[in-house]
Amino acid sequence: MTQTPVKLVDYQPFSHVLNRVELTFRLAPQATRVLARLHLAPNPAGPGGDLRLDGEGLRLIALALDGVALEATPDATGLTIAAQALPDAPFVLESEVEIAPEGNTALEGLYMSGGMYCTQCEAEGFRKITFYPDRPDVMARFDVRIESEMPVLLSNGNPVAAGPGWAEWHDPWPKPAYLFALVAGDLVAHSASFTTASGREVALNIWVRQGDEGRCAYAMDSLIRSMRWDEQVYGREYDLDVFNIVAVDDFNMGAMENKGLNIFNSKLVLATPETATDTDYERIEAVIAHEYFHNWTGNRITCRDWFQLCLKEGLTVFRDQQFSGDMRSHAVKRIEDVLALRARQFREDGGPLAHAVRPDAYVEINNFYTATIYEKGAEVIGMLKALVGEAGYKAALDLYFDRHDGQAATIEDWLRVFEDATGRDLTQFKRWYTEAGTPRVKVTEDWAEGVFTLTLQQELPPTPGQPDKGAKVIPVAVGLLNPNGDEVVPTTVLELVEPVQSFRFEGLAARPVASILRGFSAPVVLERNVSAQERAFLLAHDTDPFNKWEAGRALAKDVLARMIVEGAEVSRDWLAALARVALDESLDPAFRALALRLPGEDDMAATLHDAGHVPDPARIHAARRAMAGALAQELAGALPGLMAGLAVQGPFAPDAAQAGKRALRNAGLALLSRLDGGAAAEAAYAQADNMTDSLAALAVLLEAGRGAAELAGFEARWAGERLVMDKWFMVQVLHAAPQDLASVVERLTTRADFDWKNPNRFRAVIGALAANHAGFHHASGAGYRLLADWLLRLDPKNPQTAARMSTAFETWPRYDADRQALIRAELERIMAAPGLSRDLGEMAGRMLA
Ligand code: ARG
Ligand code: ZN
Repeated sequence: MTQTPVKLVDYQPFSHVLNRVELTFRLAPQATRVLARLHLAPNPAGPGGDLRLDGEGLRLIALALDGVALEATPDATGLTIAAQALPDAPFVLESEVEIAPEGNTALEGLYMSGGMYCTQCEAEGFRKITFYPDRPDVMARFDVRIESEMPVLLSNGNPVAAGPGWAEWHDPWPKPAYLFALVAGDLVAHSASFTTASGREVALNIWVRQGDEGRCAYAMDSLIRSMRWDEQVYGREYDLDVFNIVAVDDFNMGAMENKGLNIFNSKLVLATPETATDTDYERIEAVIAHEYFHNWTGNRITCRDWFQLCLKEGLTVFRDQQFSGDMRSHAVKRIEDVLALRARQFREDGGPLAHAVRPDAYVEINNFYTATIYEKGAEVIGMLKALVGEAGYKAALDLYFDRHDGQAATIEDWLRVFEDATGRDLTQFKRWYTEAGTPRVKVTEDWAEGVFTLTLQQELPPTPGQPDKGAKVIPVAVGLLNPNGDEVVPTTVLELVEPVQSFRFEGLAARPVASILRGFSAPVVLERNVSAQERAFLLAHDTDPFNKWEAGRALAKDVLARMIVEGAEVSRDWLAALARVALDESLDPAFRALALRLPGEDDMAATLHDAGHVPDPARIHAARRAMAGALAQELAGALPGLMAGLAVQGPFAPDAAQAGKRALRNAGLALLSRLDGGAAAEAAYAQADNMTDSLAALAVLLEAGRGAAELAGFEARWAGERLVMDKWFMVQVLHAAPQDLASVVERLTTRADFDWKNPNRFRAVIGALAANHAGFHHASGAGYRLLADWLLRLDPKNPQTAARMSTAFETWPRYDADRQALIRAELERIMAAPGLSRDLGEMAGRMLA
């Protein structure tokens, strides 16, 4: 196993420039021929020397330079053509290789899914297709010819010509190889068209298998809204005659922004009310937007090297979050995003896999498509925007598109446009990109002679390889409320730049209640000694919807922590405060549903660990159930009326208003089942006419120890539907009782339809295994063993997904000595496995370091 890291400091430009690429594909499952003509020239800005091309698993058939056959023997990772064999002027290098897409289970490069050919080239898949400088700073114009009996033949750019058994595509925009895509299959299109602001007609197609064409309407609608939004909000127009999306069943990630030919995991395209939940619809809208937005942030302006990944991903996540907020509710979206950030990114940042938003070394780049790069990368942009303001942000972005269009850029370039557009020095701010870890901000308050003083102190915990850190620039949005609930100081952004800093508010008549970190203005942990009364006050009165929710959340966590650690009773005050929010009809149902969602078990484990306790998963589980039971008692009288008032009128619509009602109604159903043992959920399941309600009722039944008949009925109805059956698998694992989890997983994994080579199915069961906190961490260690067994089984077939799933182990340092030893033993067993992939090897190694 090679574990040599690639380092940012070693960056060198490529020896040559590559102006144009001509590719011919003769597709065959076992023996596809790829002919490549690379139009190369020495790079005056390059280091000179040999020409090194990447290539993996390619059988070289022929190689020629300017028409003259060349002798060259590839090594395991590519091909070197010695400097003395290279002309000092432009030349054409031709190669022919053979590859076998049918045997490609890693789903990287050219592979087959359900009988169709498709590609995934980011990050380094193109080198499994042909010999090529597979690095994002080499940008070329592509001409592609596909020869195949498949009826639909697609590649990037615009169609040029086609005939029986062939098609040709031309992409006028220079691009790196990671944005290359090819699809060949027996597909049908859901089509529409879009006219850009400047009048260009764009043909839109979503390509799916026969029978799925009726499930594309929401994805298409989302695409059209995304295109319009990017014109209106960022002034960015689409730049080709066609925009194609293809849905594939076997896909390692969510989706991919290949130029003019996005390829999607089918679960992020296909939806009907009967088969998809509200959450699925929301995700489809967000990911369609995300991939579309990459056309400018990622494709027109790409990354110089993979260390700059957050340049495109952080910015594109930020943009898709803005879009979703505009389409739905900013308040609800922000709460959901922060919940996800804490659950995935804070968890990563506080453990052995912590890394900077711009890392400076990696072994396998696929291991760095993380919550830190994506979600913290987006948070950093949100902070920049808060610091420079709306107008500054807009000026900086306009300058970015202007200055760097057609380039492969860096984080330095990105920060410079903000400096040039706003005159602000971002030297200190840059630490957000280069230093890992979640800052903790300690708050102390002082009130004397009409002056309210907030003192903020930042602490920067050490992370692997980064023991010491400099003070960050932390925008802390603050508002002050009068004791009667009126806002006396509207939201103001305090800039914390020193290790400790005080901020004074003068001219106040009475001691105010501070609402701090409004809108979650920075990705930090706020440490504040606040009484339950003050939290309840903010829950009732804060004008900032995020902090209103946050106050309830903090209150719930305090109460739950005391129940777990001290065996305390549920707090009456919390129950009363939460009940008021739940029943407040002036509030958005979606917001009320979020307020009713109790802190998760993994979240509580992290919180207890941070507070110096050793979390006991079984106690957390029991206390959380007790808390839900008490809340159900508190609301018992109100639940029937609440739920009846939330009935949706008219046909199903996946919009935010209906989704919010369903979410609150199903939260009510879950509480009701704590009182009636699941009787109402049985009725709700029987009456459900959409997947959101069916799945919610099923989950409630499983939590109540029922649901066998419903599971059987669900299976009988949906047996042939892969995406729906993924839900059937997953719900059983997520809601298995802790002591039953291992046997539930074992039973499910022996079924014939547990197609573990399909990443969606693998995640539905093995991913859910790790998400069932009390079950996964059961003292027997059976959950750990099962996960390691499956990682070792998947690794030789699909190292990327195996490595990703291994992050379930990243929280081991939180737990007691016995659990730590059990998990470390599994990680060591993984490390010792013969033939372990670089992907999983890097992850296990970092977790054990
Ligand atoms: N660029 C894609 C997106 O976020 C992700 C593709 C990553 N794939 C991978 N194998 N690393 O939209
Ligand atoms: Zn992306």
